[in-house]
Formats: sequence, structure tokens, C-alpha cells
Amino acid sequence: MLDRTLHSAKIANPSLQYATGALLMADITDFIHPHLKKVRPYVPGKPIGEVRRELGLEGEIVKLASNENSLGPSPFAIDAIIEEAKNIWLYPEDSVFYLKNALAEYHDIPIETIVVGNGAVEVIYLLAQACLGPGDESIMGQPAFMIYEIMCQMNDCTKIGIGHPDYKNDLRKFAENVTDRTKIVWVDNPNNPTGSYESRSSVKQFINDVDGRSLIVLDEAYQQFVDHDDVCDGIELFKSGVENLITLRTFSKILGLAGIRCGYGIMHPDLAQMLETLRIQFSVNSLAQAAVLAALKDKEHMEKARRMVIDGRKYLYGEFEKLGLKYNETQGNFIWVDFTHDTRQVNEYLLREGVIIRPGWIFGSPTCARVSIGSQYENEFFIEKLIKALENGAGKRKAGKSKVVTS
Ligand SMILES: Cc1ncc(COP(=O)(O)O)c(C=O)c1O
Repeated sequence: MLDRTLHSAKIANPSLQYATGALLMADITDFIHPHLKKVRPYVPGKPIGEVRRELGLEGEIVKLASNENSLGPSPFAIDAIIEEAKNIWLYPEDSVFYLKNALAEYHDIPIETIVVGNGAVEVIYLLAQACLGPGDESIMGQPAFMIYEIMCQMNDCTKIGIGHPDYKNDLRKFAENVTDRTKIVWVDNPNNPTGSYESRSSVKQFINDVDGRSLIVLDEAYQQFVDHDDVCDGIELFKSGVENLITLRTFSKILGLAGIRCGYGIMHPDLAQMLETLRIQFSVNSLAQAAVLAALKDKEHMEKARRMVIDGRKYLYGEFEKLGLKYNETQGNFIWVDFTHDTRQVNEYLLREGVIIRPGWIFGSPTCARVSIGSQYENEFFIEKLIKALENGAGKRKAGKSKVVTS
């Protein structure tokens, strides 16, 4: 038993040691795996409530920081959640039976190839847990979705980050860097945070170049917003026989269900079985299962969300060009802007004006920022505040031509 007085004293003065008879504890963190102490925590987009509290803001706040769907969820989903709410005293169906069946039918794939998780992020965790360890290497873009790097740190695996001057996933270089230690190559397509996109033909070439020497995770979290003329669909590629390909999708973006946490991966059934064994029991809650099943039926709502993003891209491109700001053409529901100066000032100014964006330093690119595409009202609100920020000297805008980095 710990001495309670000593316990309180330790909290007040952490340099004190616990002394409980025979037990003398040097440092509680000595029990933690040493490699885990180097894990860089994920920095989420700031929630509206937190910004309001921290800055004492009373007016409107627009959040364009986490690539959420400003249209919100389908009314079908809300009705299904209300209906399911009376059952939440029961554990959910751990097999995710109905949702998996619906997905199997929709994609025309065997149910054994599907893993549904508490967000696509859970599937990423499971893949990393199953496949990455000390001595292994894992390849990803620089920048890319931050969780991939965190997976390497958590599993004591070496991260190989590959940059490109146009902030794209350089698939030729990715393939060149595959060694006999490589276990997973992560391709977020579109890339988060830059929105760059690799076409079906380019991904097919990459798959040929990797030639089965590593697993390839094609993270298609934003696939439904793509309007490229050569659309890559990882699930179709998998069905054509690419056994080392895993495709990830999420209901957080197109369905506007980020808060309820549900996403999935399609993969070889033997790998899927391993992930199901590792998955936390009941990780996909019953409200999520009901909401997603209902929302998938609302095609009109999905089309509306897609239209909002495609129109929003054009509007924001035009405004950035007028302001002389560099941006990447995007296939996601967000845009990567380069202010060519440290974005800290712009970010802070915007926060005070009630606009939350994602500053680029989080991704190792201090002059850039990622801005989610919201409703037309939110986009205009952001542009109005951005103009104010730049006029007030935040970001020290240079006059001159805009440059488009085509992905
Ligand atoms: C590329 C990418 N993959 C996966 C996810 C995670 O999606 P989920 O909300 O389903 O965990 C995100 C979320 O932002 C993402 O950007």
C-alpha cells in the first residue's frame, strides 16, 4: 500500500521518492518501454470550445482545421442514432455484421476482406501493430498523414520519409527505397495535408515497381472528393488481384460522421483475420454502426457534400490567386497554402478573429498551412479574415504573382 501522505507530498514535490517499506520506486516512467518515450503526440486541430475558452472569444468561430464535412451528417444518420439510442445499454455487435454486409455488397467483395474500426485510424493502428517492429522500415511522404510516423515511433520501426518539392507522394522514389526491411509503404491519396493526387495509372506503375516486396497501404480517406480524370480506386485494384494492397476508407469525411468514429480497410483475408484478433472488443459502437448504415443510403447528401467541396476549391483558388498566395491544387476537402513566411502570425491573427486553420509547422512546413474547405459562408468568412490578417502585416505578404503547384 502506498503511504497516502507521502503520495500527496510526491504530487506536490515530484522529486520526492515513493518509499513504502521494501518498495522504493525511482521513477514511474522506468516501467515504460524506452522507445515509447520518444513518441511525438498527435496534435489535433483545435476544437471550437477550446479556442473560445483560451482566447475568451464571444463571436462566431469557424473551424477549418480538421477536414470535417461542414454540411454535417445526413438526416438519415441522425434519425438512426435516435432510434438506436434506446439500445445503448447493450454491447454493440462486435462482428459489425450488417455494416460489413452492406460494404461487401456495395464493393462486391468477400466479407472476410473487410475490417471496420473506430475510425480508419484504428485500422492504421492495427496494421502497424501487426506488421511493424524493431528493425523494420516503413515508407511515407514528407509530409503525410501524421499518424503513419507516430505508428513507426510506437512500434519502434524506422520511418523513411520521402519529400518532393511539389509536396506530392513521389511514388517512384518510394519504390526505389523499398528494401528487404520494408514492411509498409503508406500512400495517402489524396495526400493529407497537401491534397496532391496520384492517378490510377501512376499507382498501378508503383504497385508493379514494389513487386510484392512490401505491403502497400492506399489511404483513400478523401476518395469521394476526387474529380481527377484518371481516378484511382484501390478497392478495384485489390479486386484485380493485388494481394499486398490494403485500401482504407472513412465515414468521417464524405458522410460527415467524424465524431462517431467509423472507418474501414479492405485487405487480404488472412491479414484481416489478424487485425480482427488484435482489435479492441466492441471498438465500433452501436450508434456508429446504425448511423453509417443509414447514411450510406443518402446518395443525395453525399453528392451535396462532394459538390460543396468541388465548388469551394474553385472559390478558394480564385481568392488565393487574387491575394498572390501559392497553393497546391487539391483533390481533398482541404487546401495547402504557402505563405512563404512563417505562418505563426497569420495563424494567431486568424484565431483571434475566430478562424481555426491548421498551421504547417505541425507537418514540418512552417511557411504553409492547411485549410479545410467549408461551406461557401465559412470559406468567405475565412477569406475576409485572411485579407484583414495580411493587410495588418501578419505573414508579411509579398506582392506578386501567384503560383500554382499542380499535383
Ligand atoms: C489520410 C487520412 N487517413 C485517415 C484519417 C482518419 O480517418 P478517421 O476519422 O476515420 O479515423 C484521416 C483523418 O483526417 C486522414 O486524413
